[in-house]
Amino acid sequence: MARRPLIAGNWKMNCLKADGLALARGLAARIGIEATRAADVVICPPAGLVESVARAVAGSVIGVGGQDCHTVPKGAHTGDISAAMLKDLGASHVIVGHSERRKAYGESDALIRAKAEAAHAAGLVSIICIGETEAERLDGRTLEVVGGQFAGVLPGDATPDNTVIAYEPVWAIGTGRTPTDEEVAEVHHEIRALAARHLGAEVAAKLRILYGGSMNAANARQLLALEDVDGGLIGGASLQLDGFWTIIESCA
Ligand code: PGA
Repeated sequence: MARRPLIAGNWKMNCLKADGLALARGLAARIGIEATRAADVVICPPAGLVESVARAVAGSVIGVGGQDCHTVPKGAHTGDISAAMLKDLGASHVIVGHSERRKAYGESDALIRAKAEAAHAAGLVSIICIGETEAERLDGRTLEVVGGQFAGVLPGDATPDNTVIAYEPVWAIGTGRTPTDEEVAEVHHEIRALAARHLGAEVAAKLRILYGGSMNAANARQLLALEDVDGGLIGGASLQLDGFWTIIESCA
């Protein structure tokens, strides 16, 4: 089953407007010129830049995503943004359950699942993050932890069109360390097996499972070539046009 790779850039809390727009425009120009369709490409700027970045890439094949959303469309939730609002600003995707949010805000699997379902209700594709900590890996609990998270976050309405899973070992995020190929392949295989159990083999075969955590221009081709790795969620390396472009081209 051929799954079209997805390369998603998570800018996190980086880029003032001028830098973000320059990055987005640079990417749109390259995709326009070279017509790269080896992968779907999504960039996820901070919420305040979603609208201007969406305008900057309009007409290109690049999608724009938020980095988080609330579980309800509107209401008394100071400081939050809803999926409907992201959609209204031009987003097509939203990351939910990133480990930085799990850690900083104590987000639970149940909350993340509700956010993903809110994203779908608003017409957004959810990119749902799961992954073990270093202590859990050293304890030999990686598959148990990732499996538990997968079951906990899986939206009730998940389809290959509205849901993307991102496996991000917490200890690999922003550290320059990545698991071995065997370790990545093992977890991705397990996630697909779990997806088959929950959603059926046919749906599971179409579900995109991204790898995230210190993916960069140098290691992307090898990681993206692994079976069951259907793209990447890229943080630091998505902030540099050349490096991010190299990762996109690594899908070809
Ligand atoms: P990184 O971040 O590529 O900087 O490790 C990935 C992520 O947090 O999504």
